[in-house]
Amino acid sequence: MRILAIETSCDETAAAVVDDGHVVRSNVVASQAELHRQYGGVFPELASRAHVEAIAPVVQKAMDDARATWDSLSAIAVTRGPGLPGSLVVGVNMAKGISLATGLPLIGINHLEGHIYAHWLSLNGRPANDNPMVYQLLHSEGDLSPFPLVALIVSGGHTELVLMHAHGHYELLGHTVDDAAGEAFDKVARLLGLGYPGGPAIQRAAQGGNPHRFKFSRPRISLNARTVRTAQEEFLFSFSGIKTQVLRLVQAFGMSKDGKLSPQTPVSDIAASFQNAVTDWLVEKTARAAERYGARLVLVGGGVSANQMLRQKMRAQFGSMVAFPPLWLCTDNAAMIGAAAYYALRRGLHHDLTLDVAPDLKLPES
Ligand code: KG4
Ligand code: ZN
Repeated sequence: MRILAIETSCDETAAAVVDDGHVVRSNVVASQAELHRQYGGVFPELASRAHVEAIAPVVQKAMDDARATWDSLSAIAVTRGPGLPGSLVVGVNMAKGISLATGLPLIGINHLEGHIYAHWLSLNGRPANDNPMVYQLLHSEGDLSPFPLVALIVSGGHTELVLMHAHGHYELLGHTVDDAAGEAFDKVARLLGLGYPGGPAIQRAAQGGNPHRFKFSRPRISLNARTVRTAQEEFLFSFSGIKTQVLRLVQAFGMSKDGKLSPQTPVSDIAASFQNAVTDWLVEKTARAAERYGARLVLVGGGVSANQMLRQKMRAQFGSMVAFPPLWLCTDNAAMIGAAAYYALRRGLHHDLTLDVAPDLKLPES
């Protein structure tokens, strides 16, 4: 079963051709990072217009790279949410146009589900993720089951801790009550004058820095926080407090009124200490969830899963139970949407041409 998948939820215009839910035949990503760099974050209006420009060539390239013909396809998949409304609309309309022209079934996918399914992908006959044992278990059917598994999705827009009972069957254990983990990296990087996107910049600045020099206090989060969507306080995350603590710290070293750091500011020590604290919190809560629910596997996904310190700590905690996608599947891409769509189609899910975008789509929903 061959699926053409499209992803435009944020600032990457992406299309991919995926066979049988795992074989990546092509994977094209046009990044807008350069466009948004000057704003220190994604500028929604510009993002949707850049998608409009890029979408047709990106889809055509995905088809060409895969040497796929339209009649070799079984379905068209597209991210319908969560994400920026104006960005999602571009991908959804493109997918509808193709579905209308070809008569192929249309299937709208939850972006977060995509980040989880990145683990099912293979390239050139080999598992794409870094743990072949995990990959094998994910693909086994019958007695050997990969479920229940715990997935941590950490990106610029999301921090979700998810218990997955079966294909398409998710339970949200925890989420952030304010900033996403990647957003914290981006905001702290901006504060430290390190540029955008913040994650890679912080990781670079942290090299050679002392991760134990500054201690950040742990966020205290209560269930009466307005934004809470789960009943489990212990699995909630919060990252706005640490950003404020970093601000106080750079101010204490003598920040000017217009945000210029004093030359005395120990940027790499601050970056290293910040990265150390955030990764500690992520690993701790994931470990607690995995133990509580007897998880067989831990799958980490989303842009922040590219972080080397997070990977080291997760491997130290979970050993052979944990897997990470390769860097090109950590950040937004369409191949992961194609993998998720395959399993969704097998469950009988598809949409008609009235499919709308769902900017606030939650995980248990498809
Ligand atoms: O998944 P993604 O490409 O887009 C969203 O759906 O948000 O994630 C982008 C986020 C950005 O916040 C970026 O700073 C972060 O992932 N990121 C990292 C690293 N690489 C990217 N965060 C920490 N360490 C990294 N190495
Ligand atoms: Zn994402």
